[in-house]
Amino acid sequence: MTSFSHPIPFVEQVAPFARLCWEMGWNEANGGNISWRLPTEEVESVLARRYPNVAPSEPVKLPQPQPTLDGEYFIVTGTGQYFRHATEYPDQVFGIVKIVDEGTAYQTVWGFNNGGRPTSEFATHLAGHAVRKRVSKGRERIILHCHAPEFIALSFLMPLDSKELTLALWQKMPECIVIFPDGVRVVPPMLPGTTDIADASVKEMEQGRVISWSHHGIFASEENPDKVFGLVETIEKASAMHRKILSCGGQKQSISNELLKELTDYFERLLVCKPDFLDSK
Ligand code: 13P
Ligand code: ZN
Repeated sequence: MTSFSHPIPFVEQVAPFARLCWEMGWNEANGGNISWRLPTEEVESVLARRYPNVAPSEPVKLPQPQPTLDGEYFIVTGTGQYFRHATEYPDQVFGIVKIVDEGTAYQTVWGFNNGGRPTSEFATHLAGHAVRKRVSKGRERIILHCHAPEFIALSFLMPLDSKELTLALWQKMPECIVIFPDGVRVVPPMLPGTTDIADASVKEMEQGRVISWSHHGIFASEENPDKVFGLVETIEKASAMHRKILSCGGQKQSISNELLKELTDYFERLLVCKPDFLDSK
């Protein structure tokens, strides 16, 4: 990765991360979006030191109130912005917003230099953050939405079923069940950017960090850019293997459920939760 520096350490981390996602082929043009919940004290102190004259924008109403996120800061990609431009024009591609007015509005406190605004998927990102912040007891902070091609391809080749997709991916490599024991939860094809897709996604995110937006992409929550990258990278790799196997006429054998169970016992201390698709009928 080329070296990149920025006065705001979070931009210094997230911009090369976005660029890497583009290099992976996950985020063509303006496809996909990122939001990252930032530690309040650190973001306030860096903005006061580095950008003392930048005033917050007027509050902008959110389509869905998120009271549990009131006062939180997020760095978020702007709608229509290209991931490919992340390191070249970081102050345009990204903005930092603060959730205000009991979670009913946001103010831009930095960035979006070309008069931009948060991604069209911001309502779903915030709804996802609210759930995952609670479920993970504050550990998870970043959501990446991307158009990972092998993963999307599976939504055309397989039934739109969470258990079937999860088992197919777990069976591709021993690491899979360790890295995403919570599985992949399928949301049926829906209009992007709506409160309906936010509601459907949030229901699934009560159970897990990873959503398949059928025929559209992946939506995943983790602690930091590195961890969400590893999660998506592993799922995309397993998807590629599964797609290759399907295009060769299907598998002749597979990792058994017994071995998957043994793996989860052996690596128990690394798992974010107990896998549930293994036992459920
Ligand atoms: P934005 O440009 O609004 O972030 O939309 C991209 C996208 O992937 C929509 O699902
Ligand atoms: Zn998308």
